[in-house]
Formats: sequence, C-alpha cells, structure tokens
Amino acid sequence: MMKDKFVSRVAVYPGSFDPITNGHLDIIKRGIRVFDEIIVLVAYNPNKASLFTVEERVSMIDEAIGSIEGVKADSHAGLLVDYLKKTNTNIILRGMRALSDFEYEFQMALMNRRQARDIETVFLMSGFKWFYTGSQLIKQVVSIGGSVKGLVPDNVHQKLLEKFNADRR
Ligand code: PNS
Repeated sequence: MMKDKFVSRVAVYPGSFDPITNGHLDIIKRGIRVFDEIIVLVAYNPNKASLFTVEERVSMIDEAIGSIEGVKADSHAGLLVDYLKKTNTNIILRGMRALSDFEYEFQMALMNRRQARDIETVFLMSGFKWFYTGSQLIKQVVSIGGSVKGLVPDNVHQKLLEKFNADRR
C-alpha cells in the first residue's frame, strides 16, 4: 500500500486552552513521542466564554511548552478542518480523560470527519492524575480563592492570580 501524501506526522492539537493546564501538557508530552510535530492550536469554541484573549493563551502555551522539541503554538478563528487543510495536515490530536469526555469527543471527531474525509482524530489517554481536572474547574476554583498549584504550569498559575487580582503567591 502506498504511503499517503502526509509523510511527516504532524498532529494538530486543538482546544480552547483557557488556560493550558498540566493535563494538556501531559497530552503534548505523550503526543510528541508518537508524532514528529505537534501544533497546539488555540481554536474558537462558540460554546465557551473565555477568560484569556487568544494572544494571552498562545503566549502561555509558548512559555509552558518551553524547549519541547517539535511543538509549537498557533491560533485559528474558523473551522478546525480549514486550518488542517491550510497547513496540509491530517491528524487531530485530542486528549481523553474520564468517560464523561467520550460523547463530546465522539461527536466532534465524526463531525470533523464528515467535513473532511482524509482527516483522522487520534485520542491519547491523559495520565490518571489529570483525569478529573480541566480549565473550567481550575478557573472557578481560583476565582473563589482556592489553590490550583500543581494543576497548571507555573507561568499560568501566575497569570491566573493576576487575572483574578489576587495576591496569594
Ligand atoms: O478545549 P475545547 O473547548 O473542548 O475544544 C473544542 C474545540 C475548540 C477544539 C472545538 O470547539 C473546535 O474545533 N472549534 C473550532 C470550530 C470548529 O471547527 N467547530 C466544529 C468542531 S466539530
């Protein structure tokens, strides 16, 4: 069987990343052992109001991924499949946590496949430490004075405290 035109395995890892968490970083670190490159893509989710601007989110990702070779951040305002077409890539990477993620992920994967037949979604299971955390809960906890240290990269922790104007360093 002939290899397809996508020779170098570049995966696009899309999400709201509002903000990036250690759970996301875990998926990136696992992913880069599977793919040659990963583009961490801040994409638009119309169902979520965001705390951070797209620029802030991209810059937090840039800092958090630091020197992980083969990983870069980008953003896109339109349909996800259009970004993949534009960048000539065909793999969407998503992390899977507990069972509750499954239905949402399944719907998106099938809808994306319907939009572009040669695009595949690949799921990596996040480490069990991150199974029950996510950006939404993290923001809520910080906003009412709780601690999320250890759940987000240090630069993000700092930004969250600044955003909620709390000096709990
Ligand atoms: O981190 P999230 O919010 O679960 O990520 C969802 C995201 C941003 C990947 C999804 O909403 C998305 O792909 N948005 C881009 C617009 C799009 O293509 N929507 C149709 C997805 S089936």
